[in-house]
Amino acid sequence: MPVVYKKQDGTITIHTRNTSYQMKIGPLGLLLHTYYGPTINTDAGCSLVYRDRGFSPNPYDAGIDRTISADTLPLEYSCEAAGDYRAPALSINRKDGFMTGDMRYEGHQVVSGKYSLPGMPAVYADEAEAETLIVTLKEKNTGLKAVLKYGVLPELDVITRTAEIINGTSETVIISQAASAAVDIMTSADWDLIHFSGRHAGERTPYRTEIAQRETVISSRRGISSHHQNPFVILAEKETNEQYGQCIGMNLLWSGSFAANVSKDSYGSVHAVMGIQPDRFDYPLEPGESFIAPEIALTFSNEGLGRLSRNYHKLIAEHVCRGPWKNRRRPVLINNWEATEMNFTGEKIISIAKKAGELGVEMLVLDDGWFGKRDDDFAGLGDWYVNTNKLGCTMGELAEEVRKMGMKFGFWIEPEMVNEDSDLYREHPDWAFAAPDIDPIRDRYQLVLDFSREEVVDHVLDQICEVIDDCKADYIKMDMNRPLFDIYSRTAEYQSRGRLMYKYVLGVYRFMEKLLERYPDLLLEGCSGGGGRFDAGMLYYCPQIWCSDNTDAIDRVRIQYGTSFAYPIRTMGAHVSACPNYDTKRYVPIDTRAVVAMEGTFGYELDLNRLSEKEMKQVTAQIETFKKYWNILHCGLYYRLTDVMENRQEAAWMMVSEDGSEALLNIVTLDVTGNKPNRFIRCAGLDPDASYRDDETGMVYSGNLLMSTGLLMPMRAVEGHNLVTTPPEYDAFQIHFTKI
Ligand code: GLA
Repeated sequence: MPVVYKKQDGTITIHTRNTSYQMKIGPLGLLLHTYYGPTINTDAGCSLVYRDRGFSPNPYDAGIDRTISADTLPLEYSCEAAGDYRAPALSINRKDGFMTGDMRYEGHQVVSGKYSLPGMPAVYADEAEAETLIVTLKEKNTGLKAVLKYGVLPELDVITRTAEIINGTSETVIISQAASAAVDIMTSADWDLIHFSGRHAGERTPYRTEIAQRETVISSRRGISSHHQNPFVILAEKETNEQYGQCIGMNLLWSGSFAANVSKDSYGSVHAVMGIQPDRFDYPLEPGESFIAPEIALTFSNEGLGRLSRNYHKLIAEHVCRGPWKNRRRPVLINNWEATEMNFTGEKIISIAKKAGELGVEMLVLDDGWFGKRDDDFAGLGDWYVNTNKLGCTMGELAEEVRKMGMKFGFWIEPEMVNEDSDLYREHPDWAFAAPDIDPIRDRYQLVLDFSREEVVDHVLDQICEVIDDCKADYIKMDMNRPLFDIYSRTAEYQSRGRLMYKYVLGVYRFMEKLLERYPDLLLEGCSGGGGRFDAGMLYYCPQIWCSDNTDAIDRVRIQYGTSFAYPIRTMGAHVSACPNYDTKRYVPIDTRAVVAMEGTFGYELDLNRLSEKEMKQVTAQIETFKKYWNILHCGLYYRLTDVMENRQEAAWMMVSEDGSEALLNIVTLDVTGNKPNRFIRCAGLDPDASYRDDETGMVYSGNLLMSTGLLMPMRAVEGHNLVTTPPEYDAFQIHFTKI
């Protein structure tokens, strides 16, 4: 049984295959968090400290007992109104500004299967694969409740959490914080916070910082999860590395503003709270209404960061991503953006498609610029009808041409946006977020449509569906190219910023859900100026997301490395693009670009007509390699072999098939020096007692040798000579091992 209640000591313990998570009904009904770690079968309440600590207040009903304080005890869902001065999970005000919401345990139940969340992304599982624990907390003498839900996927070592706040009072209350989860770690060890921060074209760089007696907040206020911070953090013991040590992941399934607040409390415990961004949240909850916090997926690993990532990879690939494409090999695509931007004709697109088809590419994606008056950034967004003058045909006709070449067809949309120079804006200026008397902030000359309004979502969807119907699109790239700013709805239905931003995200989810309901076979790729909305919430709708607008293979090694901590390889949109690179102007050999793009969905984003004959042959060979290795690339267990942030000599990663019969080692060389010292690449995930054959050279290695000494960095043959030499910078190797 994954959930065990022991009445005699008041513990509720969730067991997964390798972990236990325990809460305890404490004094006065405070729900305490006592443990999250390797499996235990006893009451972890022995670690609790009841002491009179100065300046930590006591609930009134504690009477003269000064040892009970919400400020010093680890709480399952810490409530500010209970007297907790740490970052609270729950903070509610009455209309007169007074704090309320001191929640105490009321009851719990366990049901089979995994709960779902209406209109929101949530991990799903078969009835037999999961269990749900529902714990109800209630405030004494008021009708306020917090219903905490836990989804337990024992085989995956994953526990999901969410909270529903119910206003059972007769007054409106204002929620200023309702986190998805709080995690307290009772410890005297040093712990670190690992977060994934960046910028446009430089997303998800891992940073590791000490958790100290100060609050560290990782957050986005942009209305999207953002390029700047990712809604995923890891709490790791100081010594934890890829293979060893304790760590806890917190992965939020939410695509809007969020915050993770992490600190060490005054007595050494780690306190982390994560959920929707509380800054300016102020969500009015009317009598009888409830608010549902987005889901968060927790996992604990005692085998380092690599294991933690693999837990998430499995969870996201099999229990978050949905639809027929989730386990299918995705078509190798060609996208015209970097080749043409918006400056194209139908003929040009056909010429790109033709060459791509000849070389083995399987799908054409027509990017931005096919609709309305869209020839530059200034106009067209919102007018989702085909510019037949520019294309010289309808979308249906273009798709037909492409299909004649044996390829699938898809196109780009940016449904949440509008340009002031568009028919949509001229007709419905009040559909854009803006206050009536204040000029809105523009970004890329565009405004954001108020997707909290159903009629706006429906209108845009209907327009786009007409185009899909005409061309029977196989694929859609759904972009979002600016953050939210003027959070003001003209309906005046809800002028609370928090409520509007929350409803906006639900509107985006509704758009995607309706799109997929109507076209169940559609392959939807998420995008937000590259990876500005790369989160587990989006992955519930899109099994892949364009990882970054930066397609430089060497920068991508770092971006994909950072992304891999939380998200599976097969969700990362990655393309081979032209050199010198669009963004960095760097030159990287085309085979290296392909090895890096295969650590992702794999496709091309350039005009293949401009390649040399030799490069064209290489492209055909790359596509063959991708098809041959697809299963292990996308479904194998993923191991990061080098720390890309530290090791400037080479980057390496490998995939090992689940049954252990094969492995694929990928190496990209970075810095070179003359007379280079020997370099070995240490593999991981192999059977130590087995032997492995390098299928290209026929060399046989012991699993133990590959994982201890490592594989000696291969040499490169010098063209035209009978010599081998140290590989140059930005060279790449893909070595396939078969277990013998
Ligand atoms: C964003 C995307 C790009 C491309 C452009 C089109 O930047 O990330 O891939 O689609 O928009 O405007």
